Amino acid sequence: MGLSGLAGKVVVVAGGATGIGAATARRLGAEGCRVVVGDLDPTAAEQTAADIAGVGGTAAAFGFDLADPDSINRLFEGAIASFGAVDLLFNVGADMRALRGDSDVLDIELETWDRIMTVNLRGYLLTMRAAIPHMLARGGGAIVNTSSAAAFQGEPRRPAYAAAKAGIGALTRHVASGWGKDGIRCNAVAPGFTATETIRSAPQWPALEAGALKRMRSPRVGESDDVAAMVAFLMSDDGAWITGQVLNVDGGTILR
Ligand SMILES: NC(=O)c1ccc[n+]([C@@H]2O[C@H](COP(=O)([O-])OP(=O)(O)OC[C@H]3O[C@@H](n4cnc5c(N)ncnc54)[C@H](O)[C@@H]3O)[C@@H](O)[C@H]2O)c1
Repeated sequence: MGLSGLAGKVVVVAGGATGIGAATARRLGAEGCRVVVGDLDPTAAEQTAADIAGVGGTAAAFGFDLADPDSINRLFEGAIASFGAVDLLFNVGADMRALRGDSDVLDIELETWDRIMTVNLRGYLLTMRAAIPHMLARGGGAIVNTSSAAAFQGEPRRPAYAAAKAGIGALTRHVASGWGKDGIRCNAVAPGFTATETIRSAPQWPALEAGALKRMRSPRVGESDDVAAMVAFLMSDDGAWITGQVLNVDGGTILR
């Protein structure tokens, strides 16, 4: 038996070309959702959509930029043109390249701070702003945002990343509070170290994995499918009484 209530639902995966977003798009496709894969990288988004279609699912791909409000509106217009509705939203995109300059409070360039806030935090505001009216028209919906263990754990580097991810928790509680009575649930997942294809192919992979294992209770690091499973559950009717939460999916990295 699959998760309940997902078959036929239209989900927008905002950042679904690679990594956790792509794995979740494929999982939701396998659960019977009609999947709109949006990403800055349209070619890779098309590949994710083709993977879903290749195993009998339904998907469409669109290029868009979390930094560009007009392109976000076009993504949702594309979803409506393709499938006539939006029931579910998974916000997962993030500018990971900008993190190279996310050094510390004394050193970080304001351009880097602003870029990370614009893509990783403001982008989620704009996608939710675009999605909520469509969900209200359907009598409800579910949103899952992507935070991070970095929002909780305190690190000597990555202040902008951590602040943006902590802000996502606040935005999540706001949306859950504002539209809960209208049938819209809003949660977030906070992954720990997750071995995406990008991370696994890094030259320093063995050291990264060993360092990550020291920070968690699990005997293994995370896989994108571990996060996808939680997102699918939260979006399904099996998660119907869960809202306003930030769920740690991290092999026991953050205990609280
Ligand atoms: N992998 C981990 O260990 C880990 C841990 C905690 C949190 N996360 C979070 O999970 C999410 C996915 O990360 P991932 O590791 O799968 O990385 P990833 O780089 O594979 O995926 C990020 C996706 O976002 C897209 N993207 C980047 N900038 C964009 C923009 N301006 N507009 C639209 N799309 C854009 C990328 O093209 C990519 O497809 C991110 O929010 C990340 O912060 C990841």
